[in-house]
Amino acid sequence: MAQLIDGKALAAGVRAEVRADVEAWTAAGHRPPCLRVVLVGDNPASASYVRGKQKAALEAGIDAQTLHFDASIPEAELLRVIDELNRDDGVDGILVQLPLPGHIDEQKVILAVAPEKDVDCFHPVNVGKLVIGEPRFLPCTPAGIMEMIRRHGIETRGRRAVVLGRSNIVGKPMANLLLQKGVDATVTVCHSRTRDLPALTREADLLIAAIGRARFVTAEMVKPGAVVIDVGINRVEDATRPRGYRLVGDVDFEAVQEKAGWITPVPGGVGPMTIAMLLKNTLAAARRSDA
Ligand code: GUN
Repeated sequence: MAQLIDGKALAAGVRAEVRADVEAWTAAGHRPPCLRVVLVGDNPASASYVRGKQKAALEAGIDAQTLHFDASIPEAELLRVIDELNRDDGVDGILVQLPLPGHIDEQKVILAVAPEKDVDCFHPVNVGKLVIGEPRFLPCTPAGIMEMIRRHGIETRGRRAVVLGRSNIVGKPMANLLLQKGVDATVTVCHSRTRDLPALTREADLLIAAIGRARFVTAEMVKPGAVVIDVGINRVEDATRPRGYRLVGDVDFEAVQEKAGWITPVPGGVGPMTIAMLLKNTLAAARRSDA
């Protein structure tokens, strides 16, 4: 039976550390770190993530506000908002919640955020810095996963990691963090077109599932004793729940927990760690802008 990696508990620890650091920072005479979250439209999942981020930031002593715009906001108007936040010396971190409505070019928006304030680590300059091993910010979800691995003393050096999914938000930056000096994993990135996927995932000492398909990873795909990290947050219908749905990961948790050595739950796994890392990045941005 796998040991549970309790992301909620680990994240509480990280958030307490950030709160203490923010207190020390303001006690030294600095203004609190300032985060501005940009939310466009009414995607319920996005609204829920943004609420979680803002609440956690406020609890850590960060000055956090969400700027909420109608889904119909013209792209030029959104770019103007970002430009204003870029120029505002009182703002340390800017986060534009994705996805954006179809009429807005996401890459254009990501490019518009000043790299020094890009606490999501989505800007190509920051992605490039990460790839060459000189990161300015760490991408929140992959960094949260690394923190989970580290805080449990799980060995990565020389071990085989398989990343399922090649998104810019998770898969690609995850592969890069696993390759960093000191982490030293051997990394394979798989995706929807990978042939004979189970044969590859069964080789993984560390399996990171980020494909966005409910319970995609079955026990047959997992090596006995493997570390299984579940990034997925999928809504599946469940008439017994008040909301009519419940959240499940990309991993068939019930079956895989019988085979894996370590496993993260959904909810309460990677999600809370993503938020904790965002707070770390925001504090780091504030410290740097003051230097
Ligand atoms: N959409 C899904 N995950 C994320 C994230 O980590 N940051 C932002 N900005 N949007 C997201």
